Amino acid sequence: MQRLAREWQQANTPVAFVPTMGYLHRGHFSLIGKARSCVGRKGKVVVSIFVNPSQFGPAEDLSKYPRDLKRDKRLCTEAGTDVLFTPTPQQMYPGGYSTWVTEETLSKGMEGASRPTHFRGVATVVAKLFQVVMPNFAIFGAKDFQQSAVVRRMVRDLNFPIKIILSPTVREADGLALSSRNKYLSREQRAQATVLWRALQMAKTRTAKGTIPSGLLKKELRKLIEAEPEARLDYIEFFHPDTLELADEARTGTHLALAVFLGKTRLIDNAKL
Ligand code: PAJ
Repeated sequence: MQRLAREWQQANTPVAFVPTMGYLHRGHFSLIGKARSCVGRKGKVVVSIFVNPSQFGPAEDLSKYPRDLKRDKRLCTEAGTDVLFTPTPQQMYPGGYSTWVTEETLSKGMEGASRPTHFRGVATVVAKLFQVVMPNFAIFGAKDFQQSAVVRRMVRDLNFPIKIILSPTVREADGLALSSRNKYLSREQRAQATVLWRALQMAKTRTAKGTIPSGLLKKELRKLIEAEPEARLDYIEFFHPDTLELADEARTGTHLALAVFLGKTRLIDNAKL
């Protein structure tokens, strides 16, 4: 992969990169489409599939994370991917591996508070993938809003010559954001999972009428969410979209992110109000 990347660089061929953990869905394909539009027909689109062990906590779903490389390969080809990069855990983390990238501000709250080593794993693997693929553009989904903020900060702070592109969240018809983890949901849980979308809509409606203290709106949203028998709120936060600094008041333009357990499955979503 690195040899190819160097050849492309020498030939001035633009490269757009979409890092994924596989089990691809329409959300991933929208990123691949965006990648193509960044580099045009003469450029190269690289997709990586790597279920990155270092971003999973000890009690998380690493071994159960859904995988279907055969299907992913076929769909990547159909979506116009030039190179599919699928390193093994041993190649990415050889014995004695001991170098990490830690972003120390944006990683602290929300996902970082619930999953303390998660963003260290994400930043490290994304930095490693960037070193190998050497893209001009890298495409990330707005679905993982905090992740994209951490990656942007890392790219700025560590001088990666890469433009980070944010691509909108792709949803099911009933509003549920597409996610590889939706596969874990039972039929009942799948029906209840629309509550994340309903919470975002309710917050939009409430803030469209005027500014509202974050604590008050949180309380209302918690009530809506926990009315679903299998739903348990992990967090809801209102924050400034650039700094991720928490906002005491929610208003139009404030960003909202939430994480909700449905049984054992943890789902996240976010939106600009
Ligand atoms: P993964 O969850 O496979 O997601 C890969 C990319 O697809 C991420 O940028 C994510 O935000 C985007 N994505 C997921 N669901 C989406 C949806 N419904 N609409 C739009 N985009 C969506 O995120 C990761 O993998 C990993 O953390 C990774 C960055 C690959 C590092 O290991």
